[in-house]
Amino acid sequence: MLQKFIVANWKMNKTIGEAVDFLSQFIPSVEGIKDREIGIAPTFLCIETVGKALKNTNIKLCAQNVFYENKGAYTGEVSPSMLKDAEVEYVIIGHSERRKYFHETDEIINKKIHASLKEKLKVIFCIGETLEERKLEKTKEILEIQIKGGLKNIEHVEALTIAYEPVWAIGTGVVATEEQIKEAHLFIREKLRDIYGEIANEIRILYGGSVSPENIKSIITLDNVDGVLVGGASLDPLSFAKIVKYDQK
Ligand code: PGA
Repeated sequence: MLQKFIVANWKMNKTIGEAVDFLSQFIPSVEGIKDREIGIAPTFLCIETVGKALKNTNIKLCAQNVFYENKGAYTGEVSPSMLKDAEVEYVIIGHSERRKYFHETDEIINKKIHASLKEKLKVIFCIGETLEERKLEKTKEILEIQIKGGLKNIEHVEALTIAYEPVWAIGTGVVATEEQIKEAHLFIREKLRDIYGEIANEIRILYGGSVSPENIKSIITLDNVDGVLVGGASLDPLSFAKIVKYDQK
């Protein structure tokens, strides 16, 4: 079985001070946990402070986004080599909010994945269908397009994590059913196997979308669910600690 991976995606939340407050409570509460991987993705502005606080802990520093060039005239962007320099280990790429509000296409996402892997960053590549696409029974078609587009000519399987996040389940409190999650994760696993062969069994596939302390256990124990990407419920240290320690009383 792959080691579970539980990642906090703070999105555009928390000032530096709030991030420090969170960590002062959260770090001690997960100390000593070694049988699963924990990640936190703060805003770029908090990356340095959070990175310092996470040094010598069991929590990995993650970023929420990256650009595909390493330097130059790209106002407002942050590059893979800058993230590497800041000791970021994982970068989230292709989140549905990036696709929706910043018009990221599969092609752009593919460029970002290439550029990040080149700098030896590990990638959490997000995919997922909208409610309309699900209603039209296009879920698998969409997932396949996103997988093929995003992973075009990508070879470093060992540095890849996939996050399946149905857009309609993100921040809505509506969680996908166990059947829906199992079906999507199995389909993703099969598509990855089509591309990479048996080594695809080593790629972790996370679920994201309204994960909470209440539903984590039933989700993370499903077949082909190797962890979770948590938005809203990761903002509170107690709530995120409960998610990380889903199998403890
Ligand atoms: P949510 O967000 O947990 O608030 O639904 C998940 C995500 O977008 O990564």
